[in-house]
Amino acid sequence: MTPSPRCEPTRSRTGEPVRHLRRSANSASVRARERSEHLRTAERFARRSRRAARPAAGGPVSFDVVVAADLDWGIGKDQSLPWPKLRGDLRHFKRITSTTETKGRRNAIVMGRKTWQSKEVGECPLPDRLNVVVSRSALAVPAGVVLAHSIDEALAAAAAHDVESIFIVGGAGLLVDALEHPELRYVYLTRIDGHYDCEIKMPDLDARGFVRVAWEGEQSGEEHGVRYRIERLRR
Ligand SMILES: NC(=O)c1ccc[n+]([C@@H]2O[C@H](COP(=O)([O-])OP(=O)(O)OC[C@H]3O[C@@H](n4cnc5c(N)ncnc54)[C@H](OP(=O)(O)O)[C@@H]3O)[C@@H](O)[C@H]2O)c1
Repeated sequence: MTPSPRCEPTRSRTGEPVRHLRRSANSASVRARERSEHLRTAERFARRSRRAARPAAGGPVSFDVVVAADLDWGIGKDQSLPWPKLRGDLRHFKRITSTTETKGRRNAIVMGRKTWQSKEVGECPLPDRLNVVVSRSALAVPAGVVLAHSIDEALAAAAAHDVESIFIVGGAGLLVDALEHPELRYVYLTRIDGHYDCEIKMPDLDARGFVRVAWEGEQSGEEHGVRYRIERLRR
């Protein structure tokens, strides 16, 4: 495992992968305001949502999926996201994957090799979470990042690191298997209200019997003329 020269501190501090990564130049003041408006409530939602997700020692390891998809279940294009940056969704992603109930613990995010290499992630681990990359090959990853060769190996590796919760964050290659997995708990879905020119599509959750379940963290937003809704689903 070798440190990636692309993950120098300047970049990794601002680097928040996939739909979580990018921030504007005046982000400091905007972030401060957002924190005062949203943070306490939303973190409470995130903690509550997750109480049952802790890996049981030696037992099956449950996980959640976090993903954003358009109305045709499109999720990616050109190794990136097909829609403009949606700050509300980026906040949601960061919050749900980072918040822990116990101080000093952290969560794990599990991603496919192409998502790891996508423009947003750029092979730089997301801060404050254990990053697990899934590939069938012997991929070189930076120190601190875990390479796994299957979803089950990724779940076991995350549990061995004593994480509090595990989130599979895409892309579609990984989701195909994750959505069939018996230990899948919830899908946190950001539904983008539009049709985008996507190369990568995830499985149709309606056709697979997933339904929306009550969740205090549900929210809607509109940015750059793009409307979206963040929901929690279960099969
Ligand atoms: N909208 C969103 O929420 C979201 C989230 C994440 C990503 N994305 C977008 O989605 C695109 C990338 O997704 P993708 O579907 O092309 O690729 P991906 O799922 O990120 O990666 C696919 C690769 O992961 C490995 N892999 C997948 N399933 C595996 C399994 N069960 N066991 C072992 N290895 C497995 C394989 O790597 P090897 O080929 O190395 O064996 C496979 O080629 C990008 O455009 C990205 O921006 C969007």
